[in-house]
Amino acid sequence: MSADGNSADGGAASAAAAASTGAADPTAAPRGTAHGKVILFGEHAVVYGVPALAVGIDRGAWAQVTNANANAKASVLHVRGWDVTVREDGGDEGPALGRAFRDVIAATRREQRAAGVPEIGDVHVEAEADLPPGGGLGCSAALGVAVARALDPSATAESIAARVDAWERVFHGNPSGIDAAVAAMGGCVQFTRGDGEARATIERVRVSEAIHLCIGHSGQASSTKSMVESVARIRERRPETTQKTFDAIHTLVKNARLAIVDHDLRAIGQLLDLNQMLLSGLFLSTPEIEQMCATARTAGALGAKLTGAGGGGCVVALVGDAARSTEVLAAWKAEGYEGFAATVKPEVHDVREILQKLHERVTRATAGSP
Ligand code: PMV
Repeated sequence: MSADGNSADGGAASAAAAASTGAADPTAAPRGTAHGKVILFGEHAVVYGVPALAVGIDRGAWAQVTNANANAKASVLHVRGWDVTVREDGGDEGPALGRAFRDVIAATRREQRAAGVPEIGDVHVEAEADLPPGGGLGCSAALGVAVARALDPSATAESIAARVDAWERVFHGNPSGIDAAVAAMGGCVQFTRGDGEARATIERVRVSEAIHLCIGHSGQASSTKSMVESVARIRERRPETTQKTFDAIHTLVKNARLAIVDHDLRAIGQLLDLNQMLLSGLFLSTPEIEQMCATARTAGALGAKLTGAGGGGCVVALVGDAARSTEVLAAWKAEGYEGFAATVKPEVHDVREILQKLHERVTRATAGSP
């Protein structure tokens, strides 16, 4: 993806969002798009300094800036699908979405002032998210990133993620920042949270071929806050055992990063299963999550685990190709679980890299290996 964050796959997220709802998505006015996120490895341990690996999916959010209605006398955000309209001047007692909108506009103007470019005036923003809210897929961050980008399409992905920090604080109090980073950057990132003065580190992990995932909802609500608190209590009671679990997750994350770069799907699948076992050991799984993971594996998934906070929420399953997704989703549906297929798009490589890959494939095929 390009440094300005307006990537081709970001466009796919927008198109997917618009297509799935049948919403018109005119292209003339400034617009922004953003990815939903799935944590593949390292949730919870990331709170204690272990890196986590997360991917941006081809579902997300889009936003578009159109002319402000002259009567509005303030910027207005309308979220389609939710049919919610909020104003920038709703005040501290106003709805959370309005406060988030106000904060991201203020952050945008601050940066524009600092850069000596004209500040945005009053605008009307149309936006839409194509992710279940509260499902651990970064819905609020995706919406925030799409809005921030539509307000200032030339800003870098890093700057957009920083502006959305203010937006995310309204909804999540003290967010680690992983959702906004993935929403803005897409692809696969390794995220390590900051400690005190130290800032979080976000490294891009190269995805060379598309990764196909199935994401299913357990039907149970999940609260990130209470699950993080529950792990903190377990850690207080059994510090050594819990540290061993975090160390094991850290090892998994390191191996998973290598497996992702190598596009070694079998290895990624096995590591997902191992991560799920370790999360179950922290009492983050539920019978429904276990059932969904088992069903996915039986239907041909290479591995499956809860994603995000656990205690409910979503499950992610890795599949070898899009056809297998259909089978996993049908198997979940037969048991009453809703889900959807998602793809992590490969990054654009330079021509030499593509030729080298082709050469390796042809050599493998000629040698008769799979
Ligand atoms: O369910 P989500 O997307 O809010 O993910 C929570 C991830 C945790 O590691 C459990 C918490 C965090 O702040 O990273």
